[in-house]
Amino acid sequence: MSGGRLWQRARQDWDELAQVDPLWAILTDPDKRNRQWAIEQFFETGRQQVQAMWPKILSHLNEWGMPTPKTALDYGCGIGRISQAFAAMGLRVTGHDISPEMVRLADHWNQYPSHCRYEVVTDSALRQLGDPTFDVVYCAEAYTAFEVSPFGGTGKVYYDKACGGERVGGFGMVECMVVDNQG
Ligand SMILES: C[S@@+](CC[C@H](N)C(=O)[O-])C[C@H]1O[C@@H](n2cnc3c(N)ncnc32)[C@H](O)[C@@H]1O
Repeated sequence: MSGGRLWQRARQDWDELAQVDPLWAILTDPDKRNRQWAIEQFFETGRQQVQAMWPKILSHLNEWGMPTPKTALDYGCGIGRISQAFAAMGLRVTGHDISPEMVRLADHWNQYPSHCRYEVVTDSALRQLGDPTFDVVYCAEAYTAFEVSPFGGTGKVYYDKACGGERVGGFGMVECMVVDNQG
């Protein structure tokens, strides 16, 4: 089994984007089209994004009496912009993505192979997650990850499981850029 039609389509689309212009497919700055992103500048955006949101996560966890997180899942990880920033902080990180080419690139740019690894999401990925799973599940700029899943339902099923399912203690966060089209 390898997922339904929507899932296959999403994989094909993202994999094509990953082959043509992966960094721009992830961060669609008009000035960076046609492979104009410099790799270091691209990863720097991830470090800044994580620096900005990490105190918020810690503050929530602290409020709930939960320990400092040690593990994270970067869902829809792309080439690892966010997970590399997590790994630099010492977290044990897993990056999951629908696109094999994105995962190949994430492996290529992985500076922390001792505690950061990448996997293509498959229909058995949910089962592979095991239990307990991650202290933090972060999903950046990957809202489509919640529209299709290989499990029949939406990606939320996967996300809930990754956050810990029945286990109380996981922290999930979906962060997307909001575009104002009102002019
Ligand atoms: C806009 S990129 C964001 C990448 C990364 N989160 C970042 O912020 O750098 C969206 C990523 O989500 C992945 N993706 C899309 N749908 C997905 C799904 N249903 N499950 C897992 N990954 C998915 C794409 O392959 C792509 O790498």
